[in-house]
Amino acid sequence: MSEVLTITDSRTNKEYKVEIHDGNIRAKDLRQIKVKEEDFGMMSYDPSFENTASCKSSVTYIDGDAGILRYRGYPIEQLAESSSQLEVSKLLIDGELPSKDELSKWISDVKDENNLPDEINNIIKAFPPNSHAMGALTSLEAALSTFYPNSKNITDENENYKSICRLIAQVPILAANFYRHSQGLSFINPDDSLDYSENFLNMMFNGDNKKMHPDLVSAMDTLLILHADHEQNCSASVMRNVGSSEPDPFSAVSAATAALYGPLHGGANEAVLQMLTEIGSVENIPAFMDKVKKKEVKLMGFGHRVYKAYDPRAKYLKEAADKVFNVTGTNPLLDIALELESIALSEDYFVARNLYPNVDFYSGLIYESMGIPKDMFTVLFTIGRTPGWLAQWKELLADKDQKIARPRQVYTGYNSRDYVNIEGR
Ligand code: CMC
Repeated sequence: MSEVLTITDSRTNKEYKVEIHDGNIRAKDLRQIKVKEEDFGMMSYDPSFENTASCKSSVTYIDGDAGILRYRGYPIEQLAESSSQLEVSKLLIDGELPSKDELSKWISDVKDENNLPDEINNIIKAFPPNSHAMGALTSLEAALSTFYPNSKNITDENENYKSICRLIAQVPILAANFYRHSQGLSFINPDDSLDYSENFLNMMFNGDNKKMHPDLVSAMDTLLILHADHEQNCSASVMRNVGSSEPDPFSAVSAATAALYGPLHGGANEAVLQMLTEIGSVENIPAFMDKVKKKEVKLMGFGHRVYKAYDPRAKYLKEAADKVFNVTGTNPLLDIALELESIALSEDYFVARNLYPNVDFYSGLIYESMGIPKDMFTVLFTIGRTPGWLAQWKELLADKDQKIARPRQVYTGYNSRDYVNIEGR
């Protein structure tokens, strides 16, 4: 035993030695701590998993205090500057930057899956056009599994590779086709001559030159890269939890998408825009900030479980926004956002709680300027995050330490009691 943690139980005065690995202890080692031999043994109580490492991972590194984010060791800023969405996807999923040949094979394998089963398009047409795009996307991803029944053979690496290519190729098509349906427009077929982000924007906007300006296409690719993974966040944990019971990856991605939908996670980008629109003008900011400080509302797009510094993605996006606004003209809500940020970075309430802008604070403004409706913002986050979920899933499947996820509880309910007939209640 090299490093150990010594614990003394004040109830029994017994001393326990718990091995330390990589600076941590195994929660299960606490089970030896008992008052009576027949006791279950001690657990750690950790609602919301604030201090629980559920896996070992080599995909993404975050230093929340220093505001550092790296995929497979590469700083996010370098990838955003120099790489592409598909190259980053390959890096996340396989662990290394691909060679020229590997990259072209990967791009061609993804393109080979660039089409949806016809029946899926019929399902898209059956959704109410004004329904929320995330509700539709969650359902459609799960529905895809019914067209690829072999995807549940998750011990077959070739099948898994196909599923990965299909999800990366087809989630953007689901998104674009649902968008077109919601606008009463006909679907645009994928175009294999275009790059990933260009193809997506083309399927949304049918070659509209203004909306497909090269700087906007490049901004979209950058946005997808910045959203591609973020280690064990809510949706990645869902991907792993659901994946641990070994369903097909389409179903697990659908579950992860549902987790992303919520306004505390990926849905925050939409909520930020809603908030900025409701504030309406810079003069209304002090009254809004009073409400935040009284905890009547949250400042959406601020705060993070892990970052206690400026989210590096938000920093990058704030700068990237200018490139978009140069093409589209500035977003009238930008002044409100900048003023909110400047107040939040200087006022005690926010400073004391380390509340800085997160990735969702500026992304919505950029999407809106690009002509994308609010309902679609979290869908774009989903397209970006899908490769990250798949990387986490692939790592899970290869990890011999992992079993079906099954947390424990601290039971606080009644002891056994007898059923009472309705007349007697
Ligand atoms: N506005 C106002 N107060 C806040 C905010 C906020 N956005 N976020 C946290 N706080 C306060 C919170 O009330 C608490 O105060 P106190 O110590 O007095 O009780 C303190 O800051 C610590 O907050 P917490 O709720 O313990 O932090 P958490 O780690 O549980 O929550 C969070 C993290 C992201 C859910 C939260 O900051 C939040 O709700 N932010 C707004 C939603 C948002 O922007 N989400 C996107 C996150 S980044 C992208 C992604 O994950 O998808």
